[in-house]
Amino acid sequence: MKKFYLTTPIYYVNSEPHIGSAYTTIIGDIIARYKRLMGYEVFYLTGTDEHGQKILQAAKKKGTEPQQLCDKLSEKFRQLWKDLNITNDYFIRTTDKKHMETVQFFVSKMLENGDIYKGTYKGWYCIPCETYWNEDEIKIENEKHICPTCNRELNFVEEENYFFSLSKYTEPLLKHFKENPDFVEPEFRKNEMLKILESGLKDLSITRTTFDWGIRMPNDPKHVIYVWVDALINYISAIGYGNDEETFKKWWPADLHLIGKEINRFHSLIWPAMLMSVGLPLPKKIFAHGWLTVNGQKISKSLGNAIDPREFVKKYGNDVIRYYLSRDIVFGKDGDFSEENLVQRLNSDLANDYGNLLHRTLAMVSKNFNSKIPVPQTPNESDKSLANEYFKTKEKYLSCMEQYKLTNALEAIWDYIRFVNKYFDENKPWILAKEGNKERLATVLYYTLEAYLKIATLLLPFMPDSSRKVFKRLGQDFEPQKFIDKWNTLVAGNKVIHDKPLFQKIDLKKFEKIAIKKEEKTEVKLDNLITIDDFKKIELRVAQIVEAEKVEKSEKLLKLIVDLGKHGKRQIVAGISKYYSPEELIGKKIIVVFNLKPAKLMGIESQGMLLAAKINNDLTVLTVDRDIEPGAKIS
Ligand code: MSP
Repeated sequence: MKKFYLTTPIYYVNSEPHIGSAYTTIIGDIIARYKRLMGYEVFYLTGTDEHGQKILQAAKKKGTEPQQLCDKLSEKFRQLWKDLNITNDYFIRTTDKKHMETVQFFVSKMLENGDIYKGTYKGWYCIPCETYWNEDEIKIENEKHICPTCNRELNFVEEENYFFSLSKYTEPLLKHFKENPDFVEPEFRKNEMLKILESGLKDLSITRTTFDWGIRMPNDPKHVIYVWVDALINYISAIGYGNDEETFKKWWPADLHLIGKEINRFHSLIWPAMLMSVGLPLPKKIFAHGWLTVNGQKISKSLGNAIDPREFVKKYGNDVIRYYLSRDIVFGKDGDFSEENLVQRLNSDLANDYGNLLHRTLAMVSKNFNSKIPVPQTPNESDKSLANEYFKTKEKYLSCMEQYKLTNALEAIWDYIRFVNKYFDENKPWILAKEGNKERLATVLYYTLEAYLKIATLLLPFMPDSSRKVFKRLGQDFEPQKFIDKWNTLVAGNKVIHDKPLFQKIDLKKFEKIAIKKEEKTEVKLDNLITIDDFKKIELRVAQIVEAEKVEKSEKLLKLIVDLGKHGKRQIVAGISKYYSPEELIGKKIIVVFNLKPAKLMGIESQGMLLAAKINNDLTVLTVDRDIEPGAKIS
């Protein structure tokens, strides 16, 4: 059996996944499913990148241990892939013991081969991108050093580090690029890499000593290994490098590393050089896609424009999201994510072109043939053209899919869908029914449904749920590979199911957009200022939580009993149930508004209110910095 090994980047667990991070994984899933359809044995790998300063900082900010943060967020990614129907074969975490051992094994080999030496790193580093930048790549704004990728301020680092002799691999890499013109795609991304190579690679600092959230250097445990070196090795640790040679040999080299454009140099230059250093073959292809943007700006949690894919899935279903992302965003280029465009695609391409004709055809089969697929008679030219056009479409589709031109593959299918609609309209089966021309009617309906079986097969990688539904409605066993190369595969006599249309249109007039949760930026306006006397009207006090329980039938509310020292105990109802379990609150010293008028929430009296900070989906209850007696006044 032919094999296909494909990977996504592993995701940083500093925050929850958003639609931008889901993009790579959804596209990867489309390719994985396509390869399976083509008869390949596929290994589809994804996972989480859990070491380094970025994660450590995120943990500190949240006041938790890094491992705890990683466990929590890694699970969110894993769960999201389940919700999105992703068919990954393995999920790797860089805090897995096996991965950590493999990284040390790999680095030991680099050491043995004389590719690592000690030196001093002095230069600029971007923590959010975990990237070292050369002086000539950095932007200077208001005398600040700014990262050219994420536009955030850089940190200056001066440390004794171990270096990888990356420069040594400039020539071998140039040679590899020349001998393998498809190594990096799209072409313009390859050219960017060639430009860097032509100006010569610099040696890379691959350890740090100023923090310890990472894998220890095998020869010098004071150093932790650079998070990118650690992360890239996931592609081979996941398939048994260094401990399961048989599995490793089966899958390596990877057939495709799918990545976003900003991490191209790690994958197309550093990773191949690391592999050369230990004598392993290079991946066959690296494909760098563009970014999903909102108003031209990259979607990212830290930019405050993150879109939660779950909300879209809940509202539109998986298939619609998958279709929209592969059809509207040209794979390889940046594309603006727009819910209006998504709805338009749903209404016109899916509900109108694709779903509607199937619905009409099945209605006629139910009415005229007792819900059984009719037996076709000798085909005429028009019927034959439907078959011929399918084979042409299939060739186009295969050629596009092999080149990862997903948008073009879908365009080819939609040309065919429109062809089938035209065939149906021209053959006017409703007139054939009226005239009682059952033989011709049977042929037209059979041919239309045969075309639908083909369309559903080609669409299977993109829209697995609806393709399965089509097979079911046509009463056919779900064996898509059997139908792809032959015509007249539909088993006549099988019972069809005439149900609701595959896709429901959304009325654009009543359409309500999912809100993009923007970071709140409040400007203080002069006419908004309050006086100290205004502020003094609010009496804030420290209170200790002594009891906490969920409010029945409420997803949001917790009922708390707080101790205010000499002011006695009070009951407070707070909307924080999504963020805190009752147990973790008990004992906390919080801040409450002491002189608030009592109010009833879901019938329960709240005698005051606690203070909390909230941004996007994060919330933290305010507590005191040092221990102090409950009841203390805040001023
Ligand atoms: N941890 C590194 C990758 C290590 S791979 C050995 C990393 N993680 S990331 O979480 O920041 O990004 C992971 C992937 O998500 C990248 O391919 C990135 O391009 C992709 N995306 C994150 N936001 C995106 C968009 N807004 N649009 C499309 N993809 C983007 O980099």
